[in-house]
Amino acid sequence: MHDLSGKVAFVTGAGSVGPGWGNGKATAVLLARQGAKVFGLDINESAACVTRDIIEKEGGTCLVHHCNMLVADEVKNAVEACMKAFGRIDILVNNVGGSAPGDPVTMSEEVWDNQIDFNLKTAFLGCKYVLPVMQQQGSGAIANIASIAGLRHHIAGRTYVAYSSSKAGLIALSKAVALANVKKGIRSNTIVVGTMHTPLVEARLVNQIGGGDAAALIAKRNAGIPMGKMGDAWDVANAVLFMVSDEARYITGTELIVDGGISAARP
Ligand SMILES: NC(=O)c1ccc[n+]([C@@H]2O[C@H](COP(=O)([O-])OP(=O)(O)OC[C@H]3O[C@@H](n4cnc5c(N)ncnc54)[C@H](O)[C@@H]3O)[C@@H](O)[C@H]2O)c1
Repeated sequence: MHDLSGKVAFVTGAGSVGPGWGNGKATAVLLARQGAKVFGLDINESAACVTRDIIEKEGGTCLVHHCNMLVADEVKNAVEACMKAFGRIDILVNNVGGSAPGDPVTMSEEVWDNQIDFNLKTAFLGCKYVLPVMQQQGSGAIANIASIAGLRHHIAGRTYVAYSSSKAGLIALSKAVALANVKKGIRSNTIVVGTMHTPLVEARLVNQIGGGDAAALIAKRNAGIPMGKMGDAWDVANAVLFMVSDEARYITGTELIVDGGISAARP
């Protein structure tokens, strides 16, 4: 099941903002465990090197490449470097992204622009430079990492106007990519992620929205979930693994929601 032997996975944001497991880091490690050679990109090369070291210690293959996914030339160079090293790209995981709260009145134009670029342009650039490789091969699978913020527009009592808009845009981008390539052997799907306990919580959210109290923030996040607790990066990684595996060969242009029941409880 989910054998990725012989496949090459191009994973953006393959490091993590803090110790532990971010979504890109867990995904890179899981894809490598299933036999894929991983090409891990990160703006913070040393964070991606931690991921590479874990993969290599487990006997897998991973190369790390410094890349700012917001800069077209850097993404183009990364794709060329991956092709030089591995000769193909079978899997693209567009994982780079993150949230900033705010409504149109309180949010600055600069934050709005940054959010749209961070969550949407990064995936556009990933697709722009990886798709020609997949089209040449006649095969490929793309997993885009979105958020339930792209389906609902008020998370835990807060408005995330730009995050919601950009993640909704990412879901639309994924469907458009899927249909544009549906006869070319390429699938594109979105993992719609709920409220997870990743290093982001302690590294950024506790100061951004938690008033400096990590335990209180974690308890509040857990309380809002029908399953009673946040998921983690492995829940995201397992969903990505299924969506990019051959077992999902008839699935394209759709979403897999990984949220412990939040969307079902509050559609
Ligand atoms: N953590 C959650 O609760 C949660 C919930 C819903 C959706 N998501 C989504 O999951 C994805 C990953 O989130 P995370 O919290 O696991 O990741 P993270 O914040 O730990 O970041 C992963 C890596 O991305 C790198 N990165 C940041 N900007 C980059 C850029 N411009 N170019 C290249 N690399 C860059 C960072 O250096 C980091 O190593 C995001 O798209 C996020 O929106 C997360």
